[in-house]
Amino acid sequence: MLKLQNLSLRYEKDQVLRDVSFEVAEGELVCLLGPSGCGKTTTLRLIAGFEKPETGQIIIGDQVVSNARHTLAPQKRGLGFLFQDYALFPHLTVAENIGYGLSGRAKKEAVKQTWEMLRQIELLDHADKYPHELSGGEQQRVALARACAPGPSLMLLDEPFSGLDTSLRANLRRETRKILKDQGVTAIMVTHDPEEAMLMADRIVLMRNGRVIQSGTPEELYNNPVDPFAAEFFCEVNHLKGIVKGDWIETDAGFIANNGQPEGMSVDVLIRPEAVTLGSETFDKALSKKVRVCAVNYARGTSHVRLGLGEEQETTDHILARHQGSFNSEIGDRVQLNIDQSQTFIFPQKSEP
Ligand SMILES: Nc1ncnc2c1ncn2[C@@H]1O[C@H](COP(=O)(O)OP(=O)(O)O)[C@@H](O)[C@H]1O
Ligand SMILES: [Mg+2]
Repeated sequence: MLKLQNLSLRYEKDQVLRDVSFEVAEGELVCLLGPSGCGKTTTLRLIAGFEKPETGQIIIGDQVVSNARHTLAPQKRGLGFLFQDYALFPHLTVAENIGYGLSGRAKKEAVKQTWEMLRQIELLDHADKYPHELSGGEQQRVALARACAPGPSLMLLDEPFSGLDTSLRANLRRETRKILKDQGVTAIMVTHDPEEAMLMADRIVLMRNGRVIQSGTPEELYNNPVDPFAAEFFCEVNHLKGIVKGDWIETDAGFIANNGQPEGMSVDVLIRPEAVTLGSETFDKALSKKVRVCAVNYARGTSHVRLGLGEEQETTDHILARHQGSFNSEIGDRVQLNIDQSQTFIFPQKSEP
């Protein structure tokens, strides 16, 4: 449905996008995810036709809508928009706001579509209210309905929840995903929040410094990150340095099985906290090591245990473990460290650009 091919763009001297390529299938919800300033909004603006690429092209359906020579006007692209600073028309009712984009249609059809959208966002009882009489979450649902009402072929959402309370966000994410799916709309949503992307996306396109680092399902990105950045973006990860010694990689947390890295190579070893278990059960004796308990915090049913890797009590080298339930060891105790290698990622060390 949408193809971005080798897009690059620069503002004056700043190269903002470099060789950006990805595709979105019909009906799919794709999240563009990455740290602030990595080029997500710029990518959306290119898709919308507000910017022109320096190289590369954008194809919607089977039409080239942007390349270096020509850009199809935004209003001819069949798009719907929902941005953070969405504004409902304050002097129009909820129903009038939703019907706003339908003014070109037959009256009867416009009314029918407005009521259908009101039903979907479960605000039928609020049709005659004005925006200021609604909660923030309700306003956001109306804004989404207004954007969906004309039946856009592609919906672009830029950080649509970032102005809202955390408590509202969880519900709105679920509702927004449901509305987009019920409408069968193809959508691209920008967010810098990995949890939001994980919860909402069919597929995630992860960006950094104007490049696409990796794209795939949330599960693929979590379980098979392509580099340390991708591994660390989704949750706190233990990051150790290692040296390859035959079938093993030696790290401060003990030996990790080598996954084919050449002898003597310096590698980054990333271990998710849930892969670290403590106590007597051992996956493999060779992989385990005695460590010292430095701190224990208990939150939401899980103990977060910080373990010192060095010999001294005041060591600065730590590894973080997540232990289900409460953890019955005292600070200073020595415990057995075991690492589940399926949640351990090994990358050749390279200097970052
Ligand atoms: N109109 C502009 N002129 C110059 N630089 C810009 C402009 N818009 C964005 N940038 C720069 O481009 C980079 C990417 O911006 P943006 O796409 O908004 O990032 P994101 O949405 O991922 O936070 C940033 O470094 C930003 O400062
Ligand atoms: Mg942005």
